[in-house]
Amino acid sequence: MSRTLLVLGAGPAQLGLLAAARAAGVRVAAADRDLRAVGAALADELVEVSVEDEDAVRRVAEELRPDGIVAPGTDFPVLVAARVAAAIRLPHPLSPEIAEAAVSKRRQRELFAAAGVPQPESRVTRTLGEAEDAAPALGFPCVVKPPDRQGQRGLSLVRRAGELPRAFELALAASRGGDVLVEEQVDGPELTVNAFSVAGRFHPLTVTDRVLAEPPAFGVALAHVWPSEQQVATCNLAIEAARAAAEAVGVRDGPTYTQVLLGPDGPRVVELAARLGGGHDAELCEAALGVDLNRLALAAALGDPVDEADLRPGAGQGGACVRFLVPPVGTLERVEGRDGAAAAEGVHWVRVYREPGFELRELRTGADRAGAALATGATREQAFERADEALARVRLLTA
Ligand SMILES: Nc1ncnc2c1ncn2[C@@H]1O[C@H](COP(=O)(O)OP(=O)(O)OP(=O)(O)O)[C@@H](O)[C@H]1O
Ligand SMILES: [Mg+2]
Repeated sequence: MSRTLLVLGAGPAQLGLLAAARAAGVRVAAADRDLRAVGAALADELVEVSVEDEDAVRRVAEELRPDGIVAPGTDFPVLVAARVAAAIRLPHPLSPEIAEAAVSKRRQRELFAAAGVPQPESRVTRTLGEAEDAAPALGFPCVVKPPDRQGQRGLSLVRRAGELPRAFELALAASRGGDVLVEEQVDGPELTVNAFSVAGRFHPLTVTDRVLAEPPAFGVALAHVWPSEQQVATCNLAIEAARAAAEAVGVRDGPTYTQVLLGPDGPRVVELAARLGGGHDAELCEAALGVDLNRLALAAALGDPVDEADLRPGAGQGGACVRFLVPPVGTLERVEGRDGAAAAEGVHWVRVYREPGFELRELRTGADRAGAALATGATREQAFERADEALARVRLLTA
């Protein structure tokens, strides 16, 4: 009898894992509060529920009795998955305690400090007054964010004191627990370390360059490019920082996605996520190295053993890139050119996340991106160009 996996989320961030589960013959029940989510077609069953609502997810799980639960691409549901799995005694790569640390930037700051993991300097504040004390001490520009959100919700770069009240208000409004982090801005390029741990052994896979949008879309990724243009020694320092971060948080099994900024005095860990990257990073890894990271995450979620041979990079490609589609503003009427774009040389796929009728907004956060393309090539530059040209052929026509 085929096994059942409960996947928290059916949005763009879950597409790769949903497809991998289907390919593996696993029955997929996907939970999402939006029944029109782009991944709905990849699920055998769609349950309308907010994946942030632990009680509701638990009720779904009790009824469904799945063989595993996974939140592949978004943060807070990682904790929901771990708690519900523990409650109904399913095998799961993360304990609720470790998952709690994995979804809290604040807790990570404490754990990293205790373990000596390099990170941006930061202060926890609860009032604008506290933030006004913290910001000049850290220096402008600084970064203000809620400690328990993702996808750049409530995140701002604050260039001068006058911008602080609004940034604080945005972060406070998004914060679940009422804390707001004020951080030193680490000025330098950014790497993402995608890795997979087996029984406490951290296996680094792809290290990618995160190409960033300009403010006001501060922190939004426009592309992930592999291999990094940084020197191998620099990438290795980022890998060591990510390894130390995983140890500090206590992740011993399953995927990790670690954001590392390269400051003038070395790497600093922005945060670690105990899941796959939400920007098709696992598919990029498979295209780049031949390591099927979605399949590995699926195994972890079902409690299946992972063969470390499956983590060994193959001959690989010269370069690989996920490039995101920044949409025009307006009501989406029609999408043209996608099939032609996807058929171009080196292009693995082109995705549009939105259906006609969707209100496309100006780019502010990752959720405003409207699609993506994955391409490979002889070099990182060629992979980037191919993905970029593919997206240039996709036309989102608005009213
Ligand atoms: N202290 C910092 N210094 C410099 N850049 C930062 C800092 N904090 C965040 N950023 C930028 O903003 C991006 C998102 O930051 P962060 O991960 O803290 O927020 P998030 O809401 O979790 O976003 P995501 O879902 O993309 O991870 C980072 O990848 C980085 O580019
Ligand atoms: Mg983050």
